[in-house]
Amino acid sequence: MCGIVGYTGPREAGPILLEGLKRLEYRGYDSAGIALVDESGDLFLAKKAGKLANLETEINGRTPHAALGLAHTRWATHGRPDDLNAHPHQDCSGEITVIHNGIIENFRELRDELEAAGHRLTSETDTEALAHLIEDAYEGDLADAVRAALRKVEGAYAIAVMHKREVSRLVGARLNVPLVVGRNGEESFIASDVSAILAHTNQVVFLEDGDVADVRPTGIEVTGVDGRPRSRELTTIDWTPEAAEKGGYETFMLKEIHEQPEALRQSLAGRLGRDGRISLPELEPMAAAVKAATRVELVACGTASYAAMVGASAIERWTDLPARVTVGSEFRYDPPPLDGRTLVIAVTQSGETADTIAPTRLARERGCPIVAVTNTVGSAITREADAILFLQAGPEIAVAASKTFVTQVTTLVVLAAAIARLRGTLPDDEEVGLVRALQALPSAAARALELNGPGASELARRYVNSRGFMYVGRGATYPAALEGALKLKEISYVHAEGYPAGELKHGPISLLDAECPLVAVATRSATYDKLVSNVMEGRARDARVIAVATEGDPQIERFADDVCWVPDTHEVVSPVLAIIPLQLFAYEIARARGTDVDQPRNLAKSVTVE
Ligand code: AGP
Repeated sequence: MCGIVGYTGPREAGPILLEGLKRLEYRGYDSAGIALVDESGDLFLAKKAGKLANLETEINGRTPHAALGLAHTRWATHGRPDDLNAHPHQDCSGEITVIHNGIIENFRELRDELEAAGHRLTSETDTEALAHLIEDAYEGDLADAVRAALRKVEGAYAIAVMHKREVSRLVGARLNVPLVVGRNGEESFIASDVSAILAHTNQVVFLEDGDVADVRPTGIEVTGVDGRPRSRELTTIDWTPEAAEKGGYETFMLKEIHEQPEALRQSLAGRLGRDGRISLPELEPMAAAVKAATRVELVACGTASYAAMVGASAIERWTDLPARVTVGSEFRYDPPPLDGRTLVIAVTQSGETADTIAPTRLARERGCPIVAVTNTVGSAITREADAILFLQAGPEIAVAASKTFVTQVTTLVVLAAAIARLRGTLPDDEEVGLVRALQALPSAAARALELNGPGASELARRYVNSRGFMYVGRGATYPAALEGALKLKEISYVHAEGYPAGELKHGPISLLDAECPLVAVATRSATYDKLVSNVMEGRARDARVIAVATEGDPQIERFADDVCWVPDTHEVVSPVLAIIPLQLFAYEIARARGTDVDQPRNLAKSVTVE
């Protein structure tokens, strides 16, 4: 997804902006650009398709002297990912420079009107229309002009704008796309997310929908698009810049896989009482709504939807409520019946996924009580919810989710238990058993890493030439099979399917042969024996079998060619441990195939368009 970084202050803007773009590379992008204005109002602009290195080559690794500037990484939505469509974009005079994340939905009408009025638009982008709209409205005050232009715009945006004649001023604005402003002494920053500017400041303002920020070296003023002042607090971010870097690992993803024990520890901190009880104070203000609920709808996309499946199954196990998961893109246009007694749980690590936010908003409009589960403070989903459960997993930079999956699972399981307790349906011994299992989970995850890390590359070597993989699970283990298959697809570009094991014989078994192995998530569960029978059917078709199994399982080696051992745990949270060898396996297959693990092709970390 696109990235924004802007600077105004006493220092050289160019290096700060390029470094900021590097920190945003994890979001995925297909072109990059930079614009700088010096104190005499001279403008420098460069943009280039492809990786940031192409832009650096274009400018010979040097940026000219300037203390004001904007830079952008673009992930194409309107128009090809080429030099011309790369941001920044400008008005006819070349005085106004704009960068933008999101989509201007009425851009065709705006473009037609602008062209009819004599403006010359040179790119295929929706963003360029904004620059010309601001030009039309400009009467000497950039913030006024931005506000006037935005009053004509429909869609979703985070923008940053500068004008050659206002040499220390940036204007930012957001609607449904994140934007933060950072402050540090005599300098200010603007960015699409905190990691771009964390090396310079941990004091930030998370802009809210409809905010327009007038950003100067000495401070910021926030108004609405109507010009009325809005009050916004500075937030202190406790993520260090180091926390967002790779540490000693070769990629962010490997670092994040290894951070899972710590992420689980942090995420569970405060949610497990010493008395053996679940503690979820965030849910207390919603107690009446939880007690009155007649059903639960979970909405999420991708990895988050697999974690949501674990949550739904835990809710049905411990409460009298039916619970269902619908992916956001389906929920939005074919919603289930929604009313004030439908508890909606929105799960999104980024908190900015358009396909998850829109259905959540719809549910809110229909009066549903809403719980958001997210990793991102200040994100859009937090403004839609009655209660917010933060994952507290720390920043996840690799595009493929790892530590946010395991913390989503535990957070949702804690939520399920808290709902059950509020409704009086959670037996005491179940709660005590669950809390014990959750307390042991961080060290069990560390053991799963120790057991599987050293052999992962050798295991991958044996299977790297396979045509495709069939991941199977049953009951509690099925979400781990889906997530394992997604990990392999995302980062190695090898085809993998996740199936309920019992479904193999209804079709996909025809794919199995010596070139298409079965990956069976066969940890201890109520349906273990059934799963084993299904896997035997696959083995009879010459499929090699990789099994993820619980330590001490006496029979698994009889039917598996390779076994990835994980510690025993409560069946409900077993995907947290089962996914660890599957993450490592996907990682090593990707490494063996030489793909870009942290930024796989065609993918973005937070998908803020529909
Ligand atoms: C996970 O590896 C994927 N990158 C993707 O499926 C992701 O989980 C999905 O886009 C949802 O993202 P969110 O949790 O930020 O809403």
